[in-house]
Amino acid sequence: MESQNKGLGATKLVLAQTHIWNHTFSFINSMCLKSAIELNIPEIIHKHGKPVPLPLLVSSLQIQPCKSPNIHRLMRLLTHFGFFSLRKLVETDDDTSEQGYVLTDSSTLLLKDHPLSATPFFLAMLDPVLKKPWYEMTNWFQSDNPTSFHTAHGKTFWEFANVDPVFNHFFNEAMASDATLVISVVVDECKGVFNGIKSLVDVGGGTGTVSKAIAKAFPEIQCTVFDLPHVVDGLQGTRNLKFVGGNMFEAIPPSDAILLKWVLHDWNDEECLKILKKCKEGIARKGKAGKVIIIDMIMENEKADMIRDISTENQLFFDMLMMVLLAGKERSEKEWAKLKCSAGFSDYKIYPILGPRSLIEVYP
Ligand SMILES: C[S@@+](CC[C@H](N)C(=O)[O-])C[C@H]1O[C@@H](n2cnc3c(N)ncnc32)[C@H](O)[C@@H]1O
Repeated sequence: MESQNKGLGATKLVLAQTHIWNHTFSFINSMCLKSAIELNIPEIIHKHGKPVPLPLLVSSLQIQPCKSPNIHRLMRLLTHFGFFSLRKLVETDDDTSEQGYVLTDSSTLLLKDHPLSATPFFLAMLDPVLKKPWYEMTNWFQSDNPTSFHTAHGKTFWEFANVDPVFNHFFNEAMASDATLVISVVVDECKGVFNGIKSLVDVGGGTGTVSKAIAKAFPEIQCTVFDLPHVVDGLQGTRNLKFVGGNMFEAIPPSDAILLKWVLHDWNDEECLKILKKCKEGIARKGKAGKVIIIDMIMENEKADMIRDISTENQLFFDMLMMVLLAGKERSEKEWAKLKCSAGFSDYKIYPILGPRSLIEVYP
């Protein structure tokens, strides 16, 4: 043992062990946050309207009294990671003044009735159906299965969603919660992208959250949500919004513009090429004025350097998520450029407005 430690001083050795432990236990972060959400802690703090002292928080929770002393441990960890913060109950210079918990921007976004709530997405990603494939990753590497998801469940992700209505529902809800946030930023920051468009098809548009927001913000645009039949069947449209069931690998309804939000990262390059070629046919009638609007990540996007550190970690996680669940991937700008060129598009413009994701306009 002594010889193995040679060259790795005591400090380095302990640092290496700490690094390993932090990785060993990183799941504790998501599990603690899940429990806080299930216990409605963000809602309780929000409703109180001012800092919530620990005893009041504990007495507001539906928990067994004998578990009360443990709540401060849960709150201590989540405060350390920026989900709550402690503020004085009364603003004085006195350091001994009692403190209470307040929400941070992140926990505010987890409020269940926040219009942009991130909770459905968060809870879906931790559901056992989506956790199981992670345990199968090594088996997948050693088998010829297309994805770890397939190794875990014997079906592709979309086949599973087709036969399991509960999974289909919570997955679509998770997507809708992300879509609400994304489209609110896009409509605020990138209005110009929709100039001159009279019709738009939201390919793989899920239950239509993005299209509903576009149809409302731009009443002159006729929007079509195009997704698999089990996703859109029975959904009601409006004056300028309709739902169409179909398969994007076969045909996409014609329009001035096509939106692909969080669709291409689900697929490998060959499949993306097929989708993009179908998109090009879909916007052909508009000639050079047609466009495809992609919302997806650009790995190592230099232009988004303000938020680079948390975005890089995020992009690495999503890339693995796409590998494990869907045989897709996150792409660098070079990979995007190659795909678009191979599908016959002439040019593109990137708007890095969505943190780790960007909006990319692609022109024929
Ligand atoms: C990751 S979700 C994105 C949903 C939505 N665009 C959003 O970002 O909220 C991908 C969508 O592609 C749809 N999809 C998968 N295969 C498809 C196909 N062959 N044709 C049309 N849509 C498909 C799924 O049903 C799902 O709604």
